Amino acid sequence: MTAAGRPWSGAGPEGPGTGDPQAEAGPGVVAGLLGGARPEDVRVVEDQAPRMLTWRYERERPQLVTLTSKAVSAQWNAETDVDWSTPVDPEAMVVAMGDAALPPVYRVAAQLPGSPLAGWGEREFRRLAVELLTARLSQFLHGEQGAMLVAAKLVETVPWIDAKYYAATQAMDEARHTEVFARYLQEKLGQAYPMTPFLEAQITDLLADGRWDIAYLGMQIVIESLALAAFGELRRTVQEPLMASLLRYIMADEARHVAFGILSLAELYGGLSAKELRERQEFLLEATLHSRARATTPEVWERLGIEVADVLPCLREATERTGLSPAAQFRRAFFAKLVPNVAKLGLLDANDGWLRERWAEAGLLDQVEELDTATAWLAEQGTGQRVGQ
Ligand SMILES: [Fe+2]
Ligand SMILES: [Fe+2]
Repeated sequence: MTAAGRPWSGAGPEGPGTGDPQAEAGPGVVAGLLGGARPEDVRVVEDQAPRMLTWRYERERPQLVTLTSKAVSAQWNAETDVDWSTPVDPEAMVVAMGDAALPPVYRVAAQLPGSPLAGWGEREFRRLAVELLTARLSQFLHGEQGAMLVAAKLVETVPWIDAKYYAATQAMDEARHTEVFARYLQEKLGQAYPMTPFLEAQITDLLADGRWDIAYLGMQIVIESLALAAFGELRRTVQEPLMASLLRYIMADEARHVAFGILSLAELYGGLSAKELRERQEFLLEATLHSRARATTPEVWERLGIEVADVLPCLREATERTGLSPAAQFRRAFFAKLVPNVAKLGLLDANDGWLRERWAEAGLLDQVEELDTATAWLAEQGTGQRVGQ
């Protein structure tokens, strides 16, 4: 694919570029260092975090030793372990997924008076479903690349050798995940969408933050729990064999990543002051309550020739009428995973349950899973260990 045809070289949240390479790539970037990439092909993030070399090579964290050893032996090859010759018919794929590919709210929106979707038939709805799936997988792709960069940052910034070793395996995992989503989109589904401004801001903030544990908390706990919920939802509903096999491989890696975050941060947070814990609680509230990670990608409508400003009010009204909000359903699945993980870190109940209270007010504590991801992972491995041992 030529650079000009690369679909995800989006203009970023600031809108279309100015034509000035240095201004577009970011401060401090010499155009000569772009290595032939166009300025709009890259996004520069200045990292504020100090790097740490360590001279303490002793293996002191047995659970991270187990995790790293498992990660090394569970590596798979995106070229040779996946059957890329499997033919994929995107329309048949979304039809088989039913409501999971096209939530009923879109059909309700088409019935509303003055709806820009009025008169749509099955062909148009199928096309919309394919675009929605493409948009979803595009965000997975960009999120995986973000995860790769954060894992690399952890290698540099975390003080413990056991965590550096593990994070290095994770950078490899995330590279593979990025590679397979890019290839699936390119070869099987169609043009990818740009990263949503919300996801881009969330990830660039983590990459820039000077506190290494915030990069951990934001990526390994919040975004990885979100990814587990999102991949889980897709895996339950997709029948297309190639995507199903990719998700099986990826999810086995992701559960390990969340476990890594919990095992590392539980140790650090045990030693923080109430004030420092409160700062982390506030970060979590900000990163979750205001989450718009599932907001519709407006470019989907542009591709279908529909004015975004016309269709959004219809979708809002259809959501209100039916009470069927795909975003709300997903948020429940996300919190079901996230809450036990945050509780394991002590952040749900620190400072007299400050965060528990806020999340409860928002009705997000109703259906949470029993086990945090690290305990579940250790149990699955049959280690007989518990987090913190
Ligand atoms: Fe990943
Ligand atoms: Fe991950």
